[in-house]
Amino acid sequence: VFVLAATGSAIGLGNIWRFPYVAGENGGGAFVLVYLAFVASVGVPIMIAEVMLGRRGRRSPVNAILALAREEGLNPAWWWLGGLTVLAGFLVLSFYSVVAGWTFAYVIETASGTFEGATLEAVKREWNAIVSSPAAMLLWHTIFMTMTIVVVSRGVRDGLERAVRWLMPALFVLLLVLVGYAMGNGLFEEAVLYLFRPNFADLTALGVLTALGQAFFTLSLATGALMIYGSYLPASASIPRSALIVACADTAVALLAGLAIFPLVFAYGLEPQQRESLAFNTLTIAFGHMPGGQFFGTLFFVLLGVAAWTSAISMLEPATAWIIEHHHVSRSRAALAAGAAAWLLGIGSALSFNAWSGYRLWDKTFFGIVEFISTNIMLPLGGLLIAVFAGWRMSRRSSADELDIGDGALYGLWRLLVRIVAPVAVLLIFMDVLGVVPLTL
Ligand code: PFF
Repeated sequence: VFVLAATGSAIGLGNIWRFPYVAGENGGGAFVLVYLAFVASVGVPIMIAEVMLGRRGRRSPVNAILALAREEGLNPAWWWLGGLTVLAGFLVLSFYSVVAGWTFAYVIETASGTFEGATLEAVKREWNAIVSSPAAMLLWHTIFMTMTIVVVSRGVRDGLERAVRWLMPALFVLLLVLVGYAMGNGLFEEAVLYLFRPNFADLTALGVLTALGQAFFTLSLATGALMIYGSYLPASASIPRSALIVACADTAVALLAGLAIFPLVFAYGLEPQQRESLAFNTLTIAFGHMPGGQFFGTLFFVLLGVAAWTSAISMLEPATAWIIEHHHVSRSRAALAAGAAAWLLGIGSALSFNAWSGYRLWDKTFFGIVEFISTNIMLPLGGLLIAVFAGWRMSRRSSADELDIGDGALYGLWRLLVRIVAPVAVLLIFMDVLGVVPLTL
């Protein structure tokens, strides 16, 4: 059950929309390899740590960390770590809702046949038409956020699991259909080489940081989401096993999305660097030309929207749980307050593609800044602190007891990864980007 909820959280726009675009922006192969290495060596151990903290703390992230700090006789100021994760999840939610809104707009357009036989030009024009309308973007953003608030205010449990149970297999099958189409109609070999043949000269320090941020983003780490789902986890469930299943499923979906998208990118002469529009433009061309594309395309965007929904729910839950505990209000009020605040902030992201596209800082729009700060800075930083807390500050006895995998090689491996590998990796990457230690070009 936890596996279902956590998979619902992990699989979403991060896999199908974000992964291909950051991979394309950072040159492919080397980025993908580094990303996979981060998922395995940094992501999975931190995921285990975060779920473990949640289950042992049994409260919203802020109070869970506070309770654990007390139990271990540590400085109560560690509650800040809980606060950082809740804030990060909140910031991610604000722009995630805007992107999820695009999938809704694409449902309508695909269902009404806009993309039947569409050319590259037409598809690009349609993308611009969709994102350049402030009113439409705000409307979809509002609808998506409302849907998320409604579910969270009712308590997340049962509906979510039922949805994930049919959603994930359906999405998986549709992705396979898309990969099959890309094999027959795209430059598949070229795409495989692009994605899996590393050329490290393509990878910058910022690219490595982006790969790290993407590993955290796609696994829903350091946002409190897994801590809160962990707090609902029964003591009998195996945390390491669940984490591995979630990480494998999540990675499989991202790689399938890449294999569906890049063969068509090359076949149609699209540029891999077209950022936010990459997945939408490529997939709509595919749906516009495949038999039954109108049906499959509509279904695909509906499923993607639902996948985004199950992710967004997990982002709103930590802040909601914290407000309930802290202000002693009802669940629905707490969800409304947190969701409305994220909605307000998200307006800036919705307008970043139209009315406010000219307002830039470090050449980034409002959307770009919120995305960068939350994904590439706050998530790795929160992950680093979770690793330090679980690996160094929490007693060996507590973590061994909670993980319940004995004191053998498996536990030793986790402890090594969470104490040394994960923190050192994050620190080195931060220093590399700041130019303190030049590791990459
Ligand atoms: N993991 C989600 C995705 O890949 O789409 C995004 C996400 C969900 C990020 C939940 C953060 C979070 F707390």
